[in-house]
Amino acid sequence: MANDAEKEVAAQASVKYVKDGQIVGLGTGSTATVAIRLIGERVRAGLKIRGIPTSIASRDLASQLGIPLTNFEEVQEIDVTIDGADEFDPALNLIKGGGGAMLREKIVASASRQLVIVTDSSKQVRMLGKFPVPVEVIGFAERLIAKKISDLGAKVVQRQDGSGRPYLTDEKHHILDCHFGQIPDPAALGRTLSEMPGVVEHGLFVGMTSVVLMAKAGDVEEFRRGG
Ligand code: A5P
Repeated sequence: MANDAEKEVAAQASVKYVKDGQIVGLGTGSTATVAIRLIGERVRAGLKIRGIPTSIASRDLASQLGIPLTNFEEVQEIDVTIDGADEFDPALNLIKGGGGAMLREKIVASASRQLVIVTDSSKQVRMLGKFPVPVEVIGFAERLIAKKISDLGAKVVQRQDGSGRPYLTDEKHHILDCHFGQIPDPAALGRTLSEMPGVVEHGLFVGMTSVVLMAKAGDVEEFRRGG
């Protein structure tokens, strides 16, 4: 089954996690986009929710679909967030940020009672690290941080936009895509990255996931933390 078809199946499976009256975190990326469209259909059919988007792109999409939005000025707790991932391991640790939104994604995830991850089957790995870890940095510190991360053994590549300029996140920071290869201890690496002055956030999500809904050949496998 093609990845796009699996993304659709996984997003469909997430719909049951969104209930009337809830505050819902709206993820970013192609799989989360399918989920937002499905939530939009349910809102048009009468579902009453308020969404907190994890990116400008998801905010714009949700607005177009007529999903009422809120923000952290108004609410500080989110019932459930539906988001995608670039990789997940057996402990449901994630690499996120292929779409560059991991800063807001992690903030929204941290405020969520439930984090529901929707993926196709290509995202399941035994150990994180095939996908580069995106590290969001302040431009001023970029070269310094790139050197420090290279010294940890990673190949570090500045993410660029289509015209060869540094890619800018929604918060106007740069991203270093860091190819570590296998990451045996994601929590320790996450702490090391977070401790570097000038690092704003990184794409390792450790201990945050409630459930992964992974589509595989038309079926959905549910993975629960500790389950
Ligand atoms: C966005 O920054 C990411 O964290 C996405 O959630 C992740 O890259 C998965 O995206 P896809 O659903 O497009 O594969």
